[in-house]
Amino acid sequence: MKFDFDRPIDRAASDSRKWNRYAGRDVLPLWIADMDFAAPTAVIDALRARVEHGVFGYGYETRGLKEATVEYVARRYGWTIEESWVVWLPGLVCGLNVAAAATGEADDEVLCATPVYPPFMSAPTNQRRRTVTAPMALRGGRWELDFDALTRAVTPRTKQFFLCSPHNPVGRAFSRAELEQVAAFCIRHNLVLVSDEIHCDLVLDDIAHVPIARLSPEVAARTITLMAPSKTYNVPGLGCSFAIIPDAKLRAGFTRAAQGIVPDVNVLGYIACEAAMRHGEPWRQELLAYLRGNRDLIEQTVTRGALPGITMTHVEATYLAWLNIEQLQLTNAYAFFEQHGLGFSEGAPFGAAKDTHVRLNFGCTRATLTEALARLQRALAAR
Ligand SMILES: Cc1ncc(COP(=O)(O)O)c(C=O)c1O
Repeated sequence: MKFDFDRPIDRAASDSRKWNRYAGRDVLPLWIADMDFAAPTAVIDALRARVEHGVFGYGYETRGLKEATVEYVARRYGWTIEESWVVWLPGLVCGLNVAAAATGEADDEVLCATPVYPPFMSAPTNQRRRTVTAPMALRGGRWELDFDALTRAVTPRTKQFFLCSPHNPVGRAFSRAELEQVAAFCIRHNLVLVSDEIHCDLVLDDIAHVPIARLSPEVAARTITLMAPSKTYNVPGLGCSFAIIPDAKLRAGFTRAAQGIVPDVNVLGYIACEAAMRHGEPWRQELLAYLRGNRDLIEQTVTRGALPGITMTHVEATYLAWLNIEQLQLTNAYAFFEQHGLGFSEGAPFGAAKDTHVRLNFGCTRATLTEALARLQRALAAR
């Protein structure tokens, strides 16, 4: 192994939002979605070279980055895109907000399926739209989109569907057949499809990620695809993301909505993005192997009954585990786990009923995860 994901790095002494929440307390931060690993060496080297230059004036994406993006998307997902389709963004939450404002008008509805990453629900309301949700279905131990529930939720004012693919927090990597159903649903109801694919390079199982816009030109024409190097290569603090919008009219609406509000990506973000796309693959392969090990450790711990009262579904993608804690019947689950030294994400902001779920970020060293699982066992035994 070339990269040492077991190496502990002291983030408590850094500017980390994840670690600073519990500063001075013995609580393992397993919440916000970044990983405790250093970025790929190639990214750090490229940043170092840029920092050495010493001048940080206004910048824009380099020719090299545009090419790298087109090549990356073609190589990784077999999707042929044009450079002009790419719109750079300083973050994907920003992208969700801009997308919500890009079409339709005030009080139009944006539909999404819950549970889901909380900004899917707040972005539309930030932009004077209404958020409409429909629950996902748990069928045969697998989370699925429930098209009956989604269809019931559609009204004449529904203008967009927000898809999370792969899915945070349930860890699904949707199959091509499922994505075809999503596309057909959006075409049937004439919805703009906003597909947040930020986790697409973190598929742990043998499932090829299909950008939904690649399904057909008809689907591409109504789709805003959001991607970023931030989750995969662990550079979210550098704020570099992008939207791919093949349709010129949709793209114009998107850039109009962003104008004067959304700042340019910072020059270091572009540098990191290009280096990750061009040179990050060996690191990513080792990362995936390490994350699979972490995922398997959690799933095996649950399966062998060491965490009574906790269930989970198989995590196909992401480094996030969505734990069902309903049977524990806790009254303030977040506080309970925090008291036992575990800083999970609370499930309710994702649209889950209170105290039924927590999200565990396993983008950490095996040692941290092992300690977290031991604390969890002790916490359950102490109830
Ligand atoms: C689905 C999804 N979209 C967007 C983001 C955040 O993106 P950004 O930090 O670029 O705003 C996250 C972070 O966890 C995420 O899981």
